[in-house]
Amino acid sequence: MKIAILPGDGIGPEIVSQAVKVLHALDEKFEMETAPVGGAGYEAKGHPLPEDTLALAKAADAVLFGAVGDWKYDTLERALRPEQAILGLRKHLGLFGNLRPAILYPELAGASTLKPEVVSGLDILIVRELTGDIYFGQPRGVRECPDGPFKGQREGFDTMRYAEGEIRRIAHVAFQAAQKRGKRLTSVDKANVLETFQFWKDIVTDVHKEYPDVALDHMYVDNAAMQLVRAPKKFDVIVTGNMFGDILSDAAAMLTGSIGMLPSASLDANNKGLYEPSHGSAPDIAGKGIANPLATILSAAMMLRYSLGRAEQAERIESAVKKVLAQGLRTPDIYEEGTTKVGTEQMGDAVVAAL
Ligand code: IPM
Ligand code: MG
Repeated sequence: MKIAILPGDGIGPEIVSQAVKVLHALDEKFEMETAPVGGAGYEAKGHPLPEDTLALAKAADAVLFGAVGDWKYDTLERALRPEQAILGLRKHLGLFGNLRPAILYPELAGASTLKPEVVSGLDILIVRELTGDIYFGQPRGVRECPDGPFKGQREGFDTMRYAEGEIRRIAHVAFQAAQKRGKRLTSVDKANVLETFQFWKDIVTDVHKEYPDVALDHMYVDNAAMQLVRAPKKFDVIVTGNMFGDILSDAAAMLTGSIGMLPSASLDANNKGLYEPSHGSAPDIAGKGIANPLATILSAAMMLRYSLGRAEQAERIESAVKKVLAQGLRTPDIYEEGTTKVGTEQMGDAVVAAL
């Protein structure tokens, strides 16, 4: 099994090396090859997604990704910015199905900014469509405004669009995920305003006919944002488009107290996938050895489960993570009084020891 290791920028290299350490501690042999991506790709090869890096990702059975981005690249032209690496990988590898679980470990209930009773036991899954919507829709750009009161001025514009097949395939992913969990699916849209999302709602409703065992409801995205902070435990699986999924998944992540805890999987039609923590590159704490590696370690567990067919190994890692939390070990982002503060490296070692 070949894994492409793409650490990226900021805290990316620190957290990915902990996940690699955990993978090496399993009694399995993996072939791992590392390549630069994001700002690191730009520095090494002049492009955030160098050709060799893309070729490696394509050839591998799975990709373990850290994070990309740093303020110092904000002034580069868009095509050279680090974010283009992850957008390019999603597009080139056809990774349309993004699974973002938000699970609250009981030990961390106090780390949430919400009242413990609102979040304790939280276990929701956001299924975000990842290769369509306004993120990739053409045309886009800056042009002369063709009509209305601002006619003739410059205007920025993007295109929101979803093809029927694009909606159907992500709906299938979401219904099937719901079947394996609480059998409830909430499709989030903005059908009251947007044509794209009325169409989305109609197609999801149609796909539902194939999954009579799953209860489907529809929710406008503004209401969904409110319900996520009001009564998040009412959700089981949420399916939505690329843009809304981006926003709602950050909100859902924070319910659990730390975005530093949450893994994610981005899958193609054959369950080949890219695995990355839900958080970003956190350049402000990079190199300090204090970043939380657990989201990346848990992403490696998702990789074993979804792309490498090693569910038992995934469970071993997940149990090891629960064990270190029960032992009271905490990186600064999840630290509370009465627990033991540890750094990135120590947290990785503790997971290996627990394994
Ligand atoms: C995410 C990130 C990316 C996105 C950025 C880095 C392009 O926010 O994975 O949620 O918007 O999809
Ligand atoms: Mg995001």
